[in-house]
Amino acid sequence: CGIIARIGADDAFPRVLTGLENLEYRGYDSAGVALQNGSGLSVFKCSGKVEDLKDRVDGAKLGGNIGIGHTRWSTHGPPSDSNAHPHTNEDGDVAVVHNGIIENHQILRERLENRGVRFESDTDTEVIPHLIDAHYDENTDPRDAFVATLRDLEGSYAVAAVFDDEDAVFAARRGSPLVLGLGESQYFLASDVPAFLEYTDRVVYFEDGDVVTVRPNGAQVTTMDGEHVEREIETVDWDPEETGKGGYEHYMLKEIESQPTSLTNTIKGRVSPESGSVDLDALTPETISEFREVQFVACGTSYHAALYGSTLLNEAGVRARAYRASEYQMGSDPVTDETLVVAVTQSGETADTLGAMRRASRGGATVLAVTNVMGSSAARAADETVYIHAGPEIGVAATKTFSSQTVTLGLLAHRLSEHMGGEDRGEPLDLALDALADLPDDLGRMLDGSDAERITNRYLGSDAYFFIGRGLGYPVAKESALKFKEITYEHAEGFASGELKHGPLALVTPRTPVFAVFTGEHDEKTLKNAKEAQTRGADVVAVAEEGHPAVDATDAHLPIPDTAPQWAGLLANVQLQLVSYHAANELGRSIDKPRNLAKSVTVE
Ligand code: G6P
Repeated sequence: CGIIARIGADDAFPRVLTGLENLEYRGYDSAGVALQNGSGLSVFKCSGKVEDLKDRVDGAKLGGNIGIGHTRWSTHGPPSDSNAHPHTNEDGDVAVVHNGIIENHQILRERLENRGVRFESDTDTEVIPHLIDAHYDENTDPRDAFVATLRDLEGSYAVAAVFDDEDAVFAARRGSPLVLGLGESQYFLASDVPAFLEYTDRVVYFEDGDVVTVRPNGAQVTTMDGEHVEREIETVDWDPEETGKGGYEHYMLKEIESQPTSLTNTIKGRVSPESGSVDLDALTPETISEFREVQFVACGTSYHAALYGSTLLNEAGVRARAYRASEYQMGSDPVTDETLVVAVTQSGETADTLGAMRRASRGGATVLAVTNVMGSSAARAADETVYIHAGPEIGVAATKTFSSQTVTLGLLAHRLSEHMGGEDRGEPLDLALDALADLPDDLGRMLDGSDAERITNRYLGSDAYFFIGRGLGYPVAKESALKFKEITYEHAEGFASGELKHGPLALVTPRTPVFAVFTGEHDEKTLKNAKEAQTRGADVVAVAEEGHPAVDATDAHLPIPDTAPQWAGLLANVQLQLVSYHAANELGRSIDKPRNLAKSVTVE
């Protein structure tokens, strides 16, 4: 979910709406706003996207210099008008937006219902305005009522409340992101910086337990006990241009095509092909030499980047394994103070990944976050952080951040392999630094000449789409299938190419094209596996360099530029991002906001 609040001298509504549009990637099954105009609160909300909300309020006069808004990804209760935020108390004089989960909401709800309170929704959030109301009767200060309510809550929240007769927004965070934007004679509170980036790049990140009161003339941060706290003002280095569509029909295509730039930013200042050195500004050689193994924890696309990273480390003889963060609690190897745990998370807010990080810290591990978002919860919880510098990514399906994660993890793997293992250490990982430095240009050329749309159209209407790869091609096959299912809603699977014959081959028919990733390593075997599918009638699309032996042996070819095997998978993945994009576009799917998904899932 995404929350936004705007406090200033003039009308809040247009800015709250822009904020909601910018936050829609966090959830888009319902949206709502509450405006305070000095003499009362007006609340508008509905199931559907922010567009639907705009239609709903069309014509209504929404004055008020203070506004809060919410865009929802359902957890408690299906998308509906009544489950949409803001939620209010019975009299409608306090309105609340919330991101997170109130774990004890059932008990609180029963307690309130026993006192005669009538609930309008199935959400966990609705207890909050009713509790504020109850406390407000006993206290005269709205802030006290707000804090008393926070004390009742178990679970996680970023929450903002507005009263009908108070020129202020009260907000707090515990376990869910909340950031303050300091604009010119206006303030914003939001789940994430892109919500208000076009108005200001000066921000304050909050800590868990912070309570914020924002009035038109200033913001004050305190602890729950009312003690004043100072939080630093930081400047974010994201360009507001990057949060717009820049003339593209979809953010996803814009983000795919911006990868030469985002990768340049990822690499900038970190590699020097001449001297063969890699600089990452994290972990000293002494610290690294203490580690005996590396465990990666991540979800979704970030997990596939982690798999890429662990494969690179394994190739350099370093013990490393990638875990799905949601499974990490259950089935991982023991964690000790000689374990480095690398949490890979674009947003830095994925609850499963944050949970895995906590488990790692409890076990005594050193935790390193690899993330795209400054001030994110992962960056704050980790012992060390490395940023991927991909710039803001708005499309729900991750594209440019996967490429930047992969390169960053390559750099990290290089550094680790140089110093881990003490005297038994083998050769450090060969990162093919020349090829790495050429990657942005290679990508640019490949994007300019891509034939992905024509090839994709040839196979649309198939029963299923399979992706296979081996070694570094395997995470690419998994990632490409995930992308394809996320945005086309068609059945797609990614397999280790050698596994195809151990079961999945039963699914292969002339109506199941197989995209095979050739990285320049283990290719003969992958080609043999591809032919096994071809023999069963499937067309095989080779994603390989020009002149590769697989090109003549298969049915179609998506070319990638000549590069080192370490980076061929990354280029192949970008061709396959285009395949997913064009398939989804042809099918008329909601590419930037696929059904049922949210970019950042802040619940476990
Ligand atoms: C959500 C998104 C995925 C993403 C995953 C991990 O499920 O829909 O696209 O890969 O979260 O996100 P993170 O921000 O931790 O990389």
